[in-house]
Amino acid sequence: MPTNTWTRHHILSLADFTAFEYDTVLQTAASFQEVLSRRTKKVPTLQGQVVANLFFEPSTRTRSSFELAAKRLSADTLTFTSATSSITKGETILDTAKTYLAMGTDIMVIRHREAGVPSAIAQEMDRLGVRVSVLNAGDGQHEHPSQALLDLFTICTLLDPNYPQIELLKNKKIVIVGDILHSRVARSNIWSLTASGAQVHLAAPPTLLPKLFADYGEDRPGKLFLHWELEPALQDADFVMTLRLQKERMTANLLPSLREYHQLFGVTHSKLKLCQPNVKVLHPGPVNRGVEISSELMDDPEFSLIQTQITSGVAVRMALLYLIGSGKV
Ligand code: CP
Repeated sequence: MPTNTWTRHHILSLADFTAFEYDTVLQTAASFQEVLSRRTKKVPTLQGQVVANLFFEPSTRTRSSFELAAKRLSADTLTFTSATSSITKGETILDTAKTYLAMGTDIMVIRHREAGVPSAIAQEMDRLGVRVSVLNAGDGQHEHPSQALLDLFTICTLLDPNYPQIELLKNKKIVIVGDILHSRVARSNIWSLTASGAQVHLAAPPTLLPKLFADYGEDRPGKLFLHWELEPALQDADFVMTLRLQKERMTANLLPSLREYHQLFGVTHSKLKLCQPNVKVLHPGPVNRGVEISSELMDDPEFSLIQTQITSGVAVRMALLYLIGSGKV
C-alpha cells in the first residue's frame, strides 16, 4: 500500500487535498475493503499505537467506524464521550487532549460542535513538538473529511470496483440537496467532488442555501451550480446526496413546515424519475425519515447506497489511520 509518498500529518479539511491524495485514499481503502472481506479481518499495521476517539458531540457512525477501523489495524483504542468525562467538572478541551497525549496517544480523532477545535488541538500538538496526528471527525458547520471520503469511495467503487479513482467522476452530475447551510458534510463533499471534476448541483430553499456557496466552486476542475428548486437540479442526475435538516444548528425559523419542506425538497421515487435511470441516492445519516428522503426510498436497495456508505466507512477510515499512522512506527 502506498505510504512512502504520503506527507500529510493531520487530516483537518479537504479544501487543499490534491488529486494524488484522493486517489491514494481510494486505492488504500480498496485494499482494506479486500482485507475486510477475508475470514480474518485484522492486520498488524498499527500494533502498539494508540488511537483516541475524542467525541465532544454525539455520533453513532463516525465514532463506531473509527473505533472498528483502529481495532482492525490492531491499534489500542480509547473512546471518550464528553458527557461522562471531566469536561463536566470544568477541564478544558486542550487539557483533555494533553491528558490523552500523556497516556501515549498517537492519533486523536476529534469531533466537536464548534468549527476549528480539531485544528486548535493539532496546532497545540505541533507547538509541543509531539508526533501526534489529528483527524477531524466533524467540527461544527466546517468540515467532515472522512464522511466525504467515504462518499467518494462509495461512488467510485460503484463505477469501478477494481480501480476506484477520481477520474471516474469527471462530468458526472451529482446533486446535493438539503440543509446545505448547516452541513459540514456538504462543504467537505463540495471540495472532493469539484476536485474530481464532477458537476455539483446544490439544491435547497434560499434560507438553507445562501448565494455565497457559489464561491466554493471557483477555480476547481468541476463546476458548482446553485438551485432554489429541486426539479431542475435533478434533471439527468447520476447521483443524489440528501442531507439531514440540522435542527440543532438552526437559530431561526428557516422553514414554514417539515411537511412543505418534504413536498418541495424531499427526495422520493417519483422525483427520481427526472434523473438518469440508474441514479443512486446517498445520505450521510442520521436520517429524518419522511423529511429529506421518503422512508420507502431510503430502504430501496435498487436506489439507496446508504448501507453501503456505512460499510465503506470502515475501510476508508482504516485507510486514513494507516496513511497518517504508519509513518510513526
Ligand atoms: N454521518 C455522521 O457523521 O453520522 P454520525 O453523526 O452518526 O457519526
